[in-house]
Amino acid sequence: MVDLRSDTVTQPTPAMRRAMADAEVGDDVLEEDPTVIRLEAEAAAILGQEAALFVPSGTMANQISIRCLTEPGDEVVLEAGAHPFHYEAGGAGVISGVTLRLVQGVDGHLTPARLEAAIRPYNVHHAPPTLLSIENTANRGGGRVLGVAGTEALLHSAKMRGLRTHLDGARVWNAAAALGCAEAELSGRFDLVSACFSKGLGAPVGSVVAGNKALIHKARRVRKYLGGGMRQVGIIAAGALFALRHHRARLVEDHHRALLLWEGLREAGWSADRPETNMVYVEIDNAPQVVETLGAAGIRCFALSPERIRLVTHLNVDDAGIRQAIEVFRGLRD
Ligand SMILES: Cc1ncc(COP(=O)(O)O)c(C=O)c1O
Repeated sequence: MVDLRSDTVTQPTPAMRRAMADAEVGDDVLEEDPTVIRLEAEAAAILGQEAALFVPSGTMANQISIRCLTEPGDEVVLEAGAHPFHYEAGGAGVISGVTLRLVQGVDGHLTPARLEAAIRPYNVHHAPPTLLSIENTANRGGGRVLGVAGTEALLHSAKMRGLRTHLDGARVWNAAAALGCAEAELSGRFDLVSACFSKGLGAPVGSVVAGNKALIHKARRVRKYLGGGMRQVGIIAAGALFALRHHRARLVEDHHRALLLWEGLREAGWSADRPETNMVYVEIDNAPQVVETLGAAGIRCFALSPERIRLVTHLNVDDAGIRQAIEVFRGLRD
């Protein structure tokens, strides 16, 4: 089986498991877990932020960020494919009492012009827009990367309009690897950043929220009332720390394999955009039916819409898996 459904399906490596088994732990609700403290400090430094908070999931990282940066009744501006709208179970309405305003971007990312056009001037009838949340890489945007200049331009527009800023950097590591820059260049100037260890980095569990000390202090309380305060959680933080230290440099391999996959699919007559990171989106008629056929032939993937299949490369997909996937897709054409 070649599992191209998501980079969340990875298995912890033997070395990662050893690091987890050997982890020094303490009660993290009492802020006494040395492994968590180390992970939070290293993640904050890499993301260019003052402090960080370990949380169970990317969804919780996003929801805590939205809660910390808004008041009930506010409007959050996001690109149309944004994760908090599509895949977070309506949490922003429940937890933060905010409205999500979706704005169609260009190639998966907002532009300053589209952002500014979407921000309505003060009017008693409107929910006041107070937060911009962007995603890098953009998942439903084909894994596309927003560069440093594009990020800066959006931050500038947001600031001019008085909006606070959040980066959903679930895959900010992939964005930095694709650009050949430091993560901090993409994440250091947001008010809050979410970043995941359980996706391309291959850890079994965990994400962080990073920001200044005052916001992370507030985030800790929100995490607590959401039930995300965990005890000897250094056991899982050790997997995340191992991933942070050892798996960022290898992400370019996943990106290279995505490119090989795309080239093979194109040669076989399939239509897909050139991948920028670890995701290949294939245009297809009757995607759910094709996903079933592919599954029966040993290739697992997801249909993200009736006309689109997503293929994701990751730690547990090797060159042989890519060749196998290309052969199966070629067979569907014959
Ligand atoms: C862009 C993005 N943000 C947030 C999340 C949420 O992460 P989790 O599944 O850990 O809740 C995901 C999950 O795939 C994602 O793709």
